[in-house]
Amino acid sequence: MAHRFARYHVQTGDHCIDATVGNGNDTVFLSGLVGEKGKVIGVDIQDQALENTRKLLEESGVEGRVVLKQADHKDLLPVTHSLGWDQIALAMFNLGYLPHADKGITTKPKSTMGALDACLDLLCNRGAISIVAYRGHQGGKEEESVVHKWMSRLNSNRFNSIRFEKGLLVEPESPVFYWVERC
Ligand SMILES: C[S@@+](CC[C@H](N)C(=O)[O-])C[C@H]1O[C@@H](n2cnc3c(N)ncnc32)[C@H](O)[C@@H]1O
Repeated sequence: MAHRFARYHVQTGDHCIDATVGNGNDTVFLSGLVGEKGKVIGVDIQDQALENTRKLLEESGVEGRVVLKQADHKDLLPVTHSLGWDQIALAMFNLGYLPHADKGITTKPKSTMGALDACLDLLCNRGAISIVAYRGHQGGKEEESVVHKWMSRLNSNRFNSIRFEKGLLVEPESPVFYWVERC
């Protein structure tokens, strides 16, 4: 669903951020949407994630469209400023841990909030943020509820937001998808 929303939203030539590159699937996806004239910044705190992503980008032949940085996403603004970016069309967050790696290294509410605030400041006038929050791992439910609170504090005159939950009450650990965009 996150990809479906991004596909209708991102235009050729756009600047986008992958705030949690992981194994690079979303980074490759975004670099396909922005095309040859666009750019993607991808960040992750783990060296392993960046290495996996670099490989996948090369295999896909789109490495020239992506700048990868090892960083905590709460420090995104210095990264975007160092590249001269002041606006983005989309920031994508796929929270949680790196699949097939150390499940103890996971996104944390405090830095996720910092990163979401930073991205909000960067959104162009049709800009959006996509977030997938996983509730099945340790700390996942807390993080999802913090994202929910962050979303509910947004000024509804400036931002439209939605929340999708698969299975509603019968699947309390299913991932939750959030989308926020400037009105
Ligand atoms: C679910 S994975 C992302 C999956 C990825 N988007 C993909 O397509 O494969 C979550 C990633 O967030 C990263 N992460 C955790 N805390 C982070 C932080 N503070 N800043 C940036 N990345 C972080 C983890 O290292 C992990 O690789």
